[in-house]
Amino acid sequence: MQHFASDNYAGICPEALAALQAANAGHAPAYGEDEWTQRVSDRLRALFETDCDVYFVFNGTAANSLALASLCQSYQSVICHEIAHVDTDECGAPEFFSNGAKLLPARGANGKLTVDAVTELITRRNDIHYPRPRVLTLTQATEVGTVYRPDEIAALAELAHRYGLHVHMDGARFANATASLGLAPAEFTWRAGVDVLCFGGTKMGLPVGEAVVFFDRKLSEDFAWRCKQAGQLASKMRFLSAPWLGMLEDGAWLRHAAHANAMAQRLAAGLHGISGIRLLFEVQANGVFCSLPEPVMSGLRERGWRFYTFIGTDGARFMCGWDTLPESVDALLADIRTLAR
Ligand SMILES: Cc1ncc(COP(=O)(O)O)c(C=O)c1O
Repeated sequence: MQHFASDNYAGICPEALAALQAANAGHAPAYGEDEWTQRVSDRLRALFETDCDVYFVFNGTAANSLALASLCQSYQSVICHEIAHVDTDECGAPEFFSNGAKLLPARGANGKLTVDAVTELITRRNDIHYPRPRVLTLTQATEVGTVYRPDEIAALAELAHRYGLHVHMDGARFANATASLGLAPAEFTWRAGVDVLCFGGTKMGLPVGEAVVFFDRKLSEDFAWRCKQAGQLASKMRFLSAPWLGMLEDGAWLRHAAHANAMAQRLAAGLHGISGIRLLFEVQANGVFCSLPEPVMSGLRERGWRFYTFIGTDGARFMCGWDTLPESVDALLADIRTLAR
C-alpha cells in the first residue's frame, strides 16, 4: 500500500540508486574532495547557469538552519511565513544554530509572503530593543502546495535587498516548483534575487541529502566550518553527492517531480465534486490539501491510509511522490467516495 502522508515515504528512485551504486567502487578522497562531489557541484552550476558555491548536508532542517545562521547575527531576525517549516517544524534549529536569531512570522494567503506583510515587519521598529530583520526566507513550493511566480519572488527580493536583508529560499520541493513553473531554475532563484537556496534532494527521490546553493558567494564564507561543527560534514561525501548525478544527468529530477505533480492533479480532480469535501488551496505542486468530514478521516485511517492533518491548515494533506501510482490515487479516491456517502 502506498501512502500520502509525505513525499519522504517513498524509496530511492532508480536513477539515484544506480548512481549511488556506481560511486561504491574502490577508494575515494573523503570530506568532499572526491570526483562525484566535484561533478555534481559543476552540474548544479550548469543547471543554475551561474558560478554558485555548493554544499551537501544530510537533511532539510540542517540545510535551512545552517544557511540562515550564515546570513545573520544572533541579535538579528529572519522574516518567514507563519506556516514556514523553519518556524513550525524544525524544533527551533534555526534559532539554535544562529545562537538566538529570532524568527518573525508574517501572514499571507496561500502560504505566500506578501510585500505588504514583509514591509510591515521590516519597518515596524528601528530601535535597540527590536531584533533587526536581516533575512527573508520563502518556501518554494510552499508548505501548502502553492508555487511563487518569478515576479512575486522578485518583488519580495527587491524589497528585502532595499532594506539590506538577504534572501533565502527553502526549496525542499524545489523540483516540484520547477516542474510546475516550467521555467529555467535561474529565472526564479538568483535572477529573481534569491541569495541562497536549500535545494531538496530527499523528497525528489534521493536516499538522503540536500544541496545548499549560494548564489551570492560572499555569503558562503566559513560555511564549510559551520557544517563541520554542526555534524553535517559527511566524511564519505561521495555517497551524499553521487545520487544527485543520477538525478541531474538525464533530467530525472524534473521527470519525477512532474509525475508527482500530475498525481496530485489526478487526486484533486477526483476529489472535486465529492460532497462534503473542499480543496483548500490551488494544487500547483505535489500536495493536495482538503477539508474532510471527521468520519471520512477516521474511516480512511481505519482502512490503513496515512496522511497528515497538522500542516499549515486544519484540513488533511495528501502528498504525492516520484513513485505514486495512478492506481494508488484511484484506490484512495474510491475509499474517500465510499466513506463520504
Ligand atoms: C517545507 C519544508 N522544508 C524543509 C523540510 C526538510 O525537513 P527535514 O529536516 O525533515 O529533511 C521539509 C520536510 O518536510 C519541508 O516540508
